[in-house]
Amino acid sequence: MGMAIERLVEPTMAQNDSEEERIEISLRPVTFVEYIGQEHLKNNLKLAIEAVKKRADGSTLDHILLYGPPGLGKTTMAGVIAHELGASLRVTSGPAIERAGDLASILTNLKDGDVLFIDEIHRLRRAVEEVLYSAMEDYKLDIVIGKGPAARSVRLDLPHFTVIGATTRTGSLAGPLRDRFGIIHRLEYYKEPEIEQILRRTAGILKTEIQPEACSLLATRSRLTPRIANRIFKRVRDYADVNGDGIVDTKIAADALKLMEIDELGLDPADRNMLKLMIENYGDRPVGLTTIAALTGDEATTIEDFYEPYLLQLGLLMRTPKGRVVTEKGRKHLQELGNMI
Ligand code: ADE
Repeated sequence: MGMAIERLVEPTMAQNDSEEERIEISLRPVTFVEYIGQEHLKNNLKLAIEAVKKRADGSTLDHILLYGPPGLGKTTMAGVIAHELGASLRVTSGPAIERAGDLASILTNLKDGDVLFIDEIHRLRRAVEEVLYSAMEDYKLDIVIGKGPAARSVRLDLPHFTVIGATTRTGSLAGPLRDRFGIIHRLEYYKEPEIEQILRRTAGILKTEIQPEACSLLATRSRLTPRIANRIFKRVRDYADVNGDGIVDTKIAADALKLMEIDELGLDPADRNMLKLMIENYGDRPVGLTTIAALTGDEATTIEDFYEPYLLQLGLLMRTPKGRVVTEKGRKHLQELGNMI
C-alpha cells in the first residue's frame, strides 16, 4: 500500500497553479498551421470545416467526438476548430454539469454556430445526458416546469451549435450519445520528431535557447505527449537558469531529468513503483485493476486513464482478460534501472 505520488508527468491539466496554467494556455496553438502532428485528424477536420464554410447556408459542423489518452491535445484541438470556424468556444466538462438545469442554461446561452466543448463527456450524469441527446439531435430542449399535477413540459428551440466531446475512452460512453457524433476520432501518440518540433516551438515562445541534441533527448523522455513535453521543458528551463546560463544543452537536460527521476523511457517513480509492486506481489500472473489500485494507493480510473495507456503503448504492460501483466520487456526495464528505484 502506498500513497499516490505527486507526479510531474501527471497528464491532467494543471489547475491548482495559475502560473503553470497561464503558460500552458500561452503555448497552445490557435490554428491548424500551428498545430503540430495529428495529421490525419487535421485533414479530416479541415475538409469538414471548409465544406461548412463553403455552403454558407447556416448549416453547422457535425458534432465531433475526440478520444484518446490525456495530454494529446483534445482541448487544444477544440480551440483550433472554433478558431478556424470563426466561432466562439464555450468550455465545460461532464462532472461540472451537475443537473439538467445547468446544461439548459449553457445551451440557451449559446449562439448559432458556437462550439461547446465538453471534456470528460463520459462522466455526464444520465439525466443530463438525456437532455443533451435531443439538444444535439434536433436543437430542441425539453424542460419540465413546475412539480406534481401542475407540471408541464415545454420544448424550446436552441441555437444550432456544435458539440466537441472529449473522452479518454469511448467504451464508457453510452451508445445513444456516441451515435449523435458525426465525426469520431482518436488522437494518437505523437512521433518523436513531432515532439521535438513542439519543444522547439515552446522554447521559442518562452525565449529559451535549446540545443538540438538536448531537444531530442527531452523528446525521448516525454511519453510522446505534448503536455508532458512542455511541462518537462519548463522544469529543465528552471534548472538551466539556476545551474547554468539559461541555455538548455545536453548536460543540463540530462541532469534535470535525473533530478526529476525520469528514466530513459520517460517513466517516473510512480510508473516504476506500480510495475515493481505488481512484479513483487504477483510475478508474471495477471493482476486485477482494483488490486493494482490498492497496491499503489491510486484510484482504479487513475491507473486506467493515466498510467496504463503509455505503458501499454511501450509494451511494458499487457492487458489480458484476467488482468494486467508486466511483460518481459517491463521486467527487463526495471532490472536494468535497478538502483534507480
Ligand atoms: N502544444 C501542445 N500541443 C501542441 C501541438 N500539437 N502543436 C503545437 N503546439 C502544441
